[in-house]
Amino acid sequence: MSGPRGAMLRPVRDPEPPSPEAAQQAERIGPTAHYTAYVWRRLGLPHAEHLATRQGAVLYWGFFALGEWATRLSPSVPSMREFLEYRHRLIDAVVDEWRPGCVVELGAGLTPRAVRWAADRGVPGIELDLPAMARAKRARLARLPAPVRARLASLHAVHDADVLAPDLPERLAGLIGGHPRPVVIAEGLLSYFDLAPRQRVLAAVAEALRRVGGGAMVCDLHTAAAQAEVGWAAHALRTAIRGLTRRRRALDPFEDLAAVQQAFARAGFDDAREALPQAYVDAQPRLARLRSPAHVIVARVGPMALGALS
Ligand SMILES: C[S@@+](CC[C@H](N)C(=O)[O-])C[C@H]1O[C@@H](n2cnc3c(N)ncnc32)[C@H](O)[C@@H]1O
Repeated sequence: MSGPRGAMLRPVRDPEPPSPEAAQQAERIGPTAHYTAYVWRRLGLPHAEHLATRQGAVLYWGFFALGEWATRLSPSVPSMREFLEYRHRLIDAVVDEWRPGCVVELGAGLTPRAVRWAADRGVPGIELDLPAMARAKRARLARLPAPVRARLASLHAVHDADVLAPDLPERLAGLIGGHPRPVVIAEGLLSYFDLAPRQRVLAAVAEALRRVGGGAMVCDLHTAAAQAEVGWAAHALRTAIRGLTRRRRALDPFEDLAAVQQAFARAGFDDAREALPQAYVDAQPRLARLRSPAHVIVARVGPMALGALS
């Protein structure tokens, strides 16, 4: 089957097994994909009900008990659910504006986004994650209703991939090459990496986009400057996330937005900006009342403009 632009996915070769660094990350970060999948289901996002897991429900309510409840004490502080909904809807709006000819999601976990693009929009949606999570995703996808699975057909794929592996530029370029306006998305992924591997992923994406003639990257990132504004509640959230991911540290932020822009420039992007929710309220009305200290960043390689961004 082919999409409206005659787009089909190309076969890809098997990857190397994940590095020890990635395996360790996976053990720590993996559970958070179950958590977010349960949030996507609670938000009623299309197809999310088929991808959420019991583990996600247990984590969601466990996390609430661990400290997330503290965010509910102040109306000026976003709850974890609001925080996740903000980034997911804002990323959706930004990607939509780009009118992508294909979307690739790094560290896709159990998100329904690529399924939505492929099954509901006819745009190729490719997901990359470490082998155990990719396997779990494929098992959940097998439970989608038959008509949805039929619409996915050759427009959707979940690949085993370690985004920290040196072959990421080549693999990504192979996946997005030939599609107009490719968009690479990393939601809830980069902040779990230390600064050096985070920079490596940005550079790999920029290189892949450059090799295919350009495209965009959309991701969420944190800055110490924005976190300071939500004060003690951010501290409560970070403590809870450390518990969930069994990390000594959680969400090591960039200093400020200038440091974020420098990181994208160093990685080889031509432009990087923060997407502001006010610009996307028509497309995603709920953004009018959602808040988050997270920044959604859209970065570009190549000639296309960045549209309605700040
Ligand atoms: C917080 S979850 C986010 C999942 C999804 N993007 C969402 O927003 O619902 C992070 C995901 O990144 C994946 N991940 C962690 N390290 C990775 C790596 N080195 N390569 C590929 N995926 C990785 C985890 O397996 C997990 O699925």
